[in-house]
Order: sequence, then C-alpha cells, then structure tokens
Amino acid sequence: METIRKLLVRPEFTMGLPTVIPALRYRMGLFVRNRRFKRRPPHGEFQALGRVLTVKRQPGGAWLHAQQGHIEIRFWASGIVRLRASQDGVAELPLSYAVVEPDETPAEVTYEDTPQALTIRTDQLTCEVDKAACTLVIKTRDGRLIVEDTTGFRLRGEQVMWSSRLPDGDGCYGLGERASGVNLRGRRYGFWNSDLVRYRYGSDPLYLSIPFLLGLRPDLAYGVLWDNPSRGWVDLGEATPGEKTFFAESGEACVYLMAGHDPQAVLSAYTALTGHMPLPPLWALGFHQSRWGYDEEATFRTLAHQFRQRRLPCDALYFDIDYMDGYRVFTWNRERFPQMPALLKDLRAQGFKPVAIIDPGIKIDRKYDVYLDGVQRDVFLKYPDGTRVAAPVWPGRCHFPDFSRPHARAWWAEQVGKLVQAGFAGLWNDMNEPALINLSSDKSLPPYVMHEWEEHPRSHLAGGHNTYGMLMARSTYEGLRQHRPDARPFVMTRAAYAGAQRYTSSWTGDNTATWEHLRLSISMALNMGLSGLPFTGPDTGGFHDEPSQELFARWMQVSSLLPYFRVHTIAGSRDQEPWSFGEQVESISRCALERRYRLLPMLYTAFAQNAQHGTPIIRPLFWLEPRNKALYDVDDAFMVGDALLAAPVLDEGATRREVTLPAGTWYAFESGEMQRGGGRITADAPLDTLPLFARAGSVIPLWPVMQYVGELPVEELLLRVFAGTGESVLYEDAGEGMAYRDGETRWSTFTTSFRPSGEFVIEWHRSGAYQPSYERVRVEVVGISGEPERVELDGGMAPVWYFNEGVVEFVAGPFERARIIGREALTPFLDETRLHPPH
Ligand code: NOJ
Repeated sequence: METIRKLLVRPEFTMGLPTVIPALRYRMGLFVRNRRFKRRPPHGEFQALGRVLTVKRQPGGAWLHAQQGHIEIRFWASGIVRLRASQDGVAELPLSYAVVEPDETPAEVTYEDTPQALTIRTDQLTCEVDKAACTLVIKTRDGRLIVEDTTGFRLRGEQVMWSSRLPDGDGCYGLGERASGVNLRGRRYGFWNSDLVRYRYGSDPLYLSIPFLLGLRPDLAYGVLWDNPSRGWVDLGEATPGEKTFFAESGEACVYLMAGHDPQAVLSAYTALTGHMPLPPLWALGFHQSRWGYDEEATFRTLAHQFRQRRLPCDALYFDIDYMDGYRVFTWNRERFPQMPALLKDLRAQGFKPVAIIDPGIKIDRKYDVYLDGVQRDVFLKYPDGTRVAAPVWPGRCHFPDFSRPHARAWWAEQVGKLVQAGFAGLWNDMNEPALINLSSDKSLPPYVMHEWEEHPRSHLAGGHNTYGMLMARSTYEGLRQHRPDARPFVMTRAAYAGAQRYTSSWTGDNTATWEHLRLSISMALNMGLSGLPFTGPDTGGFHDEPSQELFARWMQVSSLLPYFRVHTIAGSRDQEPWSFGEQVESISRCALERRYRLLPMLYTAFAQNAQHGTPIIRPLFWLEPRNKALYDVDDAFMVGDALLAAPVLDEGATRREVTLPAGTWYAFESGEMQRGGGRITADAPLDTLPLFARAGSVIPLWPVMQYVGELPVEELLLRVFAGTGESVLYEDAGEGMAYRDGETRWSTFTTSFRPSGEFVIEWHRSGAYQPSYERVRVEVVGISGEPERVELDGGMAPVWYFNEGVVEFVAGPFERARIIGREALTPFLDETRLHPPH
C-alpha cells in the first residue's frame, strides 16, 4: 500500500505542464496560491524534558540528562552559547552547513550547582537552568535578559519545538526573505524554500529562508540561530502574544544564541559563526540588465549598442533559459547563438559581463552528454529504494544533482568550466528550492527523497530541501574558483540557507510590477542584510505584469541604492530596458545609474565592511539609534553604508513625502541644504528626485561617472564632506582578483571636526599596500556658511580654493590634514549640536 502511495505521488507521475509555453504557469500562478504558512503541529502531544536527573560537566558547558530527554549547553565562545536538545541522548554534533567552525575551542566557564539550579557563566553570558522543569534563562553578565524559556524544549518523535518569552516591544528581524514589513513581530514564518508564484505582501514562505532571528530592544540586541534545516517554522507572537516558538519536523534542536549592545555586535557574532561574504568583483555592484526572452545573438548585440550609445551605464547582461539548447543546462542553442564564445568576447570588449542562468534539473536525454556523464558518475538524487529521482522542470523530466555529496559538487564544478570557457563571467542559479513544474502540492521533490549529506544521509524533509539552493550555489562558486582562479566569482541564487553568504548573492525572486512590491524591495533587502546575506535586490520594474512609466522610474531610483541592481522581467512582457518608457524615464534612469556609479567607492566600502564584520550594506534606520523605538518599524527609508539615508517615493502620484530623520544634523545630498534630525521633515520629490541625505561629519567618496566598471582608470577621487564632527572610512582595492586576500588593500579613515579656534579640520589616515590609480583628490566641503579666510593643506597654503554657495572646494593630492580656517565662516557651527552630533 505504502509503495503504491509513494509511486502515485512521485513527481514523474504527476502531469508536467507543456514546456512549450513555459511562462504560462508564471503568468497564471495556477498551482500554488499565495498562502500563509499553514502547517501547525498537532497540539498536546509534545513532551517537555522534565526534571533534570544528572548533570555532567564538559569543556565549555554541561550535559544534562532529564526525565524525557537531554540538553547540551556549550559556550562556543564567551559571547555565543549553543544549546542542543534531543530525546536519545546527545549524539555527535550533526553536520551543519550553516556554521563554519562548529567545534571552536570552548570558552572558559565557571559553574554553580545547587539541587534547584545549575548556573554556568563566561565573562560575557550567564546560563541558568531550573532543574525542576529543565528550562533556561540566559542573560548577559550584567543581567540583561536574552532568553527566558516558557515551556522550553519539547519533543515528539522526530519533531522538536522550543518556546521562550518574547518580551513586549522587542523588534524582530532577519529570517531571510520575508514579504512583509521590516519588523517581523506578530506572525508565523515558515522554513521551507518555496517557489511561491505571484507572491504578495504577507505570502510565506518564499524562496529563501534563514532561521536566524535578530531581536532588538533599547538596551539589548540578541541573535538566535535555529540551526535545523528541516521543514519548520518560527512563531513570533502570533499563536501566543509574548511568546516565540521555533519548530522543526525532524532532527535535534540546535540553537546558537548571542547578544550585544547593538545589532552590529550580533551581526559580527553571527557572521563569525556562519562565515563572511567574500568580496564580489566590483563590476557586480554596477547595473545588470536582464529579461526572460533575450533569445538570440542579435538581441544582445543590439542591447550592448543601445546602452553604450545612449550613455546608460551598465555592467552585466543576462542570459535567461532561452540561451540553452532545449533547456539543457551547460549547453547553448547553436542556431540562435551560432558563435557564443565570439559574442561573449565582443560583449566583454565593450565592458559587459555576461551572466548565464543555470538550473539544477538535468534533462533525462540519452543524447545529452551532461546527463549521461551524471548517470555514470552517480551524482543524482535518489529515492530510498535507490532509484534516481525524476521530475519535470523546463526541459521535461530531469534528474537532480545531490549537492550534499562532495563528488557531485565536484562534478557540477567541472560542468561550470564549460560556461567559463565560453566566456560567461557570472552564474545565476535558479529553480533551486528545488522547484518543479507539476501538480504536486508545493512543486518540489517528495519529502522522502534522500540526500547523502556528506555520508550521513538525510531526507529531503529533514534538510535536503532547505539546503539544496545553498549547496548548488556552493558548487557553482567552487566551479568558478576552479576554472577562473584569478577572478572573483559572481554567483546569484534564488534559494538558500544560513551561511550561504560564503558563496553567493541572491535576488528576491518573481515579484510583481506593483507599488506594494516596490515597497517590499526595501524591507526584504533590509531583512536579508540582517540575516547575513546582504547582497540582494529585486527584479527592478517587476517580474510579473508591467510597470507604468512612473513606477519604473521610482523603482530605478530605489534599486540604484540597493546592494544588487538589476532590471528583469518575465517572457512576453513589454520591453523593460531603461529607454523603453520614453525620454523622461530614460533620463531619470540615467540619473539613477550615474548616481550608482558615482557612489561605487562608498558602496564598495560597505561591501568590505560586510566582508569583515557582517555589517549590512543597507541598514534600517534603527542601526543608527538602536535605543529609539520609534525607528523599529521604519521601512520606507534606509541607510546606505554609514552615511547616506535614502527616503525614496513609494506611492503612486506622490511628489513629496515625510521622512523620519534620526537624531543629529543631516544635509540633502545634492543641494547641501541642512536639516535637523530627531523628527519628521517633508521632502520635495518630483518624479526626477530621490530624497537622499548625508549625515553631518561624513566624508563620501565619489568616482566620476563611467559607463562600466574599469572603463577608464579613475584619475580623480571626489570627497564630498558634510560639515560636522565624525569619522568615515573608505576601502579600496583592485576591484577584481584575489590580491586583496594577500593584503593588497587600503583603508582610509577620515576624521572631521570643528575646533573652537575657528577651524574645520579633515584628517585622512591611510593604511595598506594598495595604490589607487588617482593622484588627484577634489574636496567639496558642504555646509560652510561664509567665505573662509584660508585653506591649509598639510601645513602649507592650498594653492587654489573656491567658495561658492556654502561649498568650499579645493583640489589636492592625497593629504593628511586639511584645515578650513575662518572664525566668522565657521561660527554657526560652533554650537554644541554640531560639534557633538549624538550618533
Ligand atoms: C524563474 C526565475 O525566478 C525567473 O527570474 C526566470 O526568468 C525564470 N525562472 C526563467 O528562467
């Protein structure tokens, strides 16, 4: 009976949609409705762990044997504690694809053991176990609460659950890709990567879930990594207000907890645990043009010509599935692309980097060498009975590599070589939830498909599914490293799990051309940044449906400041290149693109900060003031790097908007107009304007506009300095290649301050071996109200300087100290607020 049931639900027996009209399913959203994540465990059967019977001390913690199960407490580091709960005693630590060093030397701990309680302390954290109920309270050493169990860990067969208090007012963030506002509190979110067609506000789960929660309250930020990749969910106060619950259908509960004064401390700890994003090639920060339906050589040549002729900066052109030969991965259609390597070479000669899509489904086809080789080398996923999984995707029935086997990853990496040799610069990993085109309930593989999981087999449900996209991205990344060792890989993925930042960027999947989705672009990117995977962005203009001129223009403005900037749309939709909406929109798009390219040194610095400390590239406003609860829900504005605040227009027809400015002094980025922060202001924003503000005391590095990264060596660096007291950083390296890993980098620190004697001083400290191409630096100091007496550079007089409408401008070589002197000109600045802005 069971065998018949399994046979019937096997994906190859469900009807595949005709792939002759592959866009149909996308256009109609036929099979998976936008739905909330409904799975809830049956009530009443979970068992709490019961009374603690014995305690065994271990390095860095203890092992507790309770009536109904076991808990292991181990301080991974003095500020990070790992908890594991299971029924059968604590076996070997399960393999984790999220955590880089699961067995870091444990921290020094002290114990206090009484009949009622066990307390374990490091110099940063305290973990107290109530022995009667086997529940935990974890605090910072100075007594701030991180976690307080309610029912604590509970088990039922294969399933695990963990409930703890969610204190009133705590903001909740992270969790990967969530189609909701930035503060996730009050809802339940699924952990099951899903190709949810025509998702909208509230749809869940989507393509990419990361079981990492960042909690925030005025005196504490904390992080919870629920490192269980099986199907599950987290409830943030929906079922029981004031309680949060994590649930997994299989495997043991394994949780890492960390805390700090601000979200930065938590993101640093989280990325120490799960790894950092390597620096992408600088071109990947440029503009990317894509669409499903660029299907022949001539189209790409025309596109390239149009971008350059119209002076619309662009770095990457995308090849969606149409370039393939019958959707066979690692091939191309020889009729429509007769000279693929020559075409790619020509595109590269014009500064375009071609990016190709690859899907995990390998067509079952006896004439297809990749398929034959894969079968022969035994790389495909199998059912428990050892037969290969077969299910329909674009090319018809496919097998799927088991990326949890090292030799399958190596095989995939080898295939990647074919596209590298053809001349592709980056690879876009799609459909890797994995998504199927059939009638199964969630359009993915059955839960009982087996994954080798580095020789510790696991089912699709228990982890194979949620880690599939991440492991595909990892194999792709390794392929790019192997075949082009001197270049930095650019990989983009649709599905992923915690830790995927070590290999890949992502995008927010198949959105829709609506104002709601424009708004979601921001909150989704913000939460991805707070989940450790910051290099992301939406399909600008929308994938489904067609944007109006106004919507497209506004979206270009928003995306120009998001980490990943790409236009993409579905097959058969209207043209969506920046010139396709008439002259006005083309010129607004040009402006957005040029701003993006000018800001590259600042954006790249934000990427470098992420690569070092896990700092998101774009950040919610509470990043500046974690104590200010009024900022916890703001998701219509965001910080770009340390200094810029973007407040784009997100409503149809609006030409002005309210902006919440955090405390301190701000300047309109272009006009230099000064604004007091700490409240709301109204900004004018006609269609061609994106309200953008700079923090007083920041130094924003800018490059000249270029049509693509590397078009011309940068000969002059512009430093736009916003008068005030502050510190800013600039990171520089070659933007490509691996020398940065061997120290070919340069960090600059700029310190700006007012001196009561009537001076504004900019100090520039540089460290590192990298020598940028420019020798000239142009400085624009914005916000000086009167003409200064003189400008000095490194002790001498500046040869030339100008003063015009509040801006002092001079040109210099890289200097160490510039002084703008003039008691009268600077008097207005010598008030307390501007000397010591409160950030
Ligand atoms: C689904 C992806 O999400 C979309 O971006 C792509 O265009 C189509 N697959 C076709 O490859």
